[in-house]
Amino acid sequence: MDEIKLGMVGLGTVGSGVLAMVQKHAAKISAVTGRQLVVKTVVVKNPQKHQQVADLVHLTTELDDLLNDSEIKIVIEVMGGIHPAKEIIEQMLRAHKHVVSANKDLIATAGQELIALAKQNHCDLMYEASVAGGIPILRTIADSFAADQITEVKGIVNGTTNYILTQMSQSNRSYEDALKQAQKLGFAEADPTNDVQGRDAGYKMAILSRFAFGTNVAVDQFKVTGIDQVDQVDVQQAAAFGYTLKLVGIARLVDQRVFVEVAPALVNIHHPLAQVNNENNAVMVTGRAVGDTLFYGPGAGGLPTANSVLSDITTVTKNMILKTNGNSFNGYSHPLPFADATM
Ligand code: HSE
Repeated sequence: MDEIKLGMVGLGTVGSGVLAMVQKHAAKISAVTGRQLVVKTVVVKNPQKHQQVADLVHLTTELDDLLNDSEIKIVIEVMGGIHPAKEIIEQMLRAHKHVVSANKDLIATAGQELIALAKQNHCDLMYEASVAGGIPILRTIADSFAADQITEVKGIVNGTTNYILTQMSQSNRSYEDALKQAQKLGFAEADPTNDVQGRDAGYKMAILSRFAFGTNVAVDQFKVTGIDQVDQVDVQQAAAFGYTLKLVGIARLVDQRVFVEVAPALVNIHHPLAQVNNENNAVMVTGRAVGDTLFYGPGAGGLPTANSVLSDITTVTKNMILKTNGNSFNGYSHPLPFADATM
């Protein structure tokens, strides 16, 4: 069977999950794609730290080992952060390599530019793992809602804050203690400021807005409030009145404009979002034709997020096969923007 060689930049929680899944699920992946996926080269800052995989992949600090290797057709970016990830993805696309990224900060900030660059270079740029970890929400909106008019997307899209709020309300833990645990469990970002201040959820809502409404909304253009000011007493008061406190993101069509916000919200305990606990996420998509739909699953963590990365890789692999057969398709099909899409 033909092989597809992959390169990867970064080898943290998600990257390690990708390596493990490519090894463990090789037979299933080959059956689905008709190709054998092989992670050939991984660029890391410090190869000494990753000796446990040294006999499986070529570990290097040199980006050129990916760029100049014509065998490597798909590059996975799981290093996170905006710089230098943006410049690295640009170089890969210019070298005509398809890119799969898990980087919501970057995609929310510079997605439009990178999508254009990918198109120019006839490459796919896919990033399912950037929103709601293991929930396949981007492809669902792009494909399953292709014919419907979405009117609202709302949900819990940050695992760390949901874990903290759940622990504060159900186990009486303090905010600080719950945050430390979320870091230990690998849900929180290396610097959890963006998680607790709501910015991480804001990035994800910006990406969801692009998929749902075709708008390019930047996180600085809408109101984002985190949970860093939430106290144990707020959580207890909410419970006393039959509510639970959740960090909710919403993107909604209002008079042909798109309204986006992220804020802690009182959710009635009978509402489905109130049942979403710990690191889990849930996204409700409302369409004019279909009505309300709900997608639930792990919002963070190595293997769930790696699964989303691999779903993109299988799509890119299938697209590559289609292209060699004369068809062309690049990444996702975004809806046309509304003429008057503002926040
Ligand atoms: N820090 C993020 C979260 C990781 O807690 O949801 C997944 O994007």
